[in-house]
Amino acid sequence: MPIFRPQRFVRVCIVFFVIFMSTICFKVYLKVSLIKKQTRDIIYNYQDDVSDNSTYTDYVAARIKDKMQTMRQILNIKSQIKNINLAQTVHNTRLGHFKSNLDSHVIVVLVHSDTYYFSQLLLSLKTAIGIKDAFIIFSHDYFSESINALIRNIKFAKYIQIFFPYSIQLHPNVFPGTDGQHCSEGYVCKKSKARDPEAAQSKQHWWWTVNQVFDNLNVTRSIKQFTVLFLEDGDFVTPDILYVFKLLKKVRLSHFTFCEVINLGAYDLDLSSYTKKTLVSVEIWTGRSYRSGIAFDRQTWNSLKSNSEEFCNHNDYNWDSSLRHVGFKKWDGNVYMIAIPGTRVIHIDKCGRTDDGCQEELKVKEVKKFIRSVRKGMFPRSYVMAANKVEDFDRTAAGFWEDVRDKELCMYFTTHSVWY
Ligand SMILES: *[C@@H]1O[C@H](CO)[C@@H](O)[C@H](O)[C@H]1NC(C)=O
Ligand SMILES: *[C@@H]1O[C@H](CO)[C@@H](O)[C@H](O)[C@H]1NC(C)=O
Repeated sequence: MPIFRPQRFVRVCIVFFVIFMSTICFKVYLKVSLIKKQTRDIIYNYQDDVSDNSTYTDYVAARIKDKMQTMRQILNIKSQIKNINLAQTVHNTRLGHFKSNLDSHVIVVLVHSDTYYFSQLLLSLKTAIGIKDAFIIFSHDYFSESINALIRNIKFAKYIQIFFPYSIQLHPNVFPGTDGQHCSEGYVCKKSKARDPEAAQSKQHWWWTVNQVFDNLNVTRSIKQFTVLFLEDGDFVTPDILYVFKLLKKVRLSHFTFCEVINLGAYDLDLSSYTKKTLVSVEIWTGRSYRSGIAFDRQTWNSLKSNSEEFCNHNDYNWDSSLRHVGFKKWDGNVYMIAIPGTRVIHIDKCGRTDDGCQEELKVKEVKKFIRSVRKGMFPRSYVMAANKVEDFDRTAAGFWEDVRDKELCMYFTTHSVWY
């Protein structure tokens, strides 16, 4: 039996004490140097945005307060997002549970920060016939109280909200936000403005969303057969969108299962395309149609997912052209779609910052007027098929997707379920 030796015990205690104290000292040192660095940054910025009336110390104090406040806000939003993403609350379940049939539509709405355009999309969805049987997934890349308030008022459909945890809003000065760096293979990083965080976010957000919806979201991941329709704020839908969606799903199932996607959105607003006997076409997805209004099912998803590397490594920040690229490389050389020439998703032109006198309300009015003028040709009763012969899709890549960190984050979403 070991003998208790007080001297040895004291020595062990001293060793532990020293280790403990030096750990604390090191942490304090790190904290102090962080604060020093922040103060240095602030002082450095002083020349840029000092106002005449504030003293130097006031300025520094105000900036530190600012930074602390931003940090607190981010932490606060992060914890809310975590709770919402984990709870996965489906709202309005009184409208019935999700059924896996042609009348039950799953709609994913990519929501950014524009409250006005988003409110217009909601108004149009509300008037869509059949919306009460739909299930809407709002996927946000921006946490906004006013947008959340709009969503809380929704009574017309079942819905769930999910929040992209790697948004620029939550990472203002570090990757995936703006860190002013560009990294190539092997994490060789240099100061550069070559990376556009907004552009990169649009592909990351979509890829994260589609992975979560098909594979990780509890309500949808176990449903074998369903088709997801993608919309975005800035879109405005027609009252017959779900009726036409169902029609195209049926036509695809019975004749054209080789078509990977369904497309409800065309670029052109063509009055003559809305007829009771409508044209339905099979064509190559060239990129000349709008990417909102694209829909695909789990089968296409599985095929896309098994080619994630093609998607994540393709140097194009547009998710739709990255998807077409996968089609080109791995499927039959193209992505085939079944489409309708009379668009059911209308994109509202946003007012540019330099557009003086441009009024959002007028743009929306124009769209509503267009929809009224084609009302008689909606809810088509029959269809004729046509194969549209067009050239292969344009293979030039738009770029803004070269940073190795973006490629890796994209692949990370493929292999991990990331909720916070
Ligand atoms: C300094 O001037 C700005 C406007 O130039 C004003 O908003 C601010 O309140 C002033 N600060 C103080 C401390 O007077
Ligand atoms: C979702 O599914 C996971 C794994 O089955 C489970 O641990 C979790 O509690 C579920 N979450 C909700 C909100 O149902």
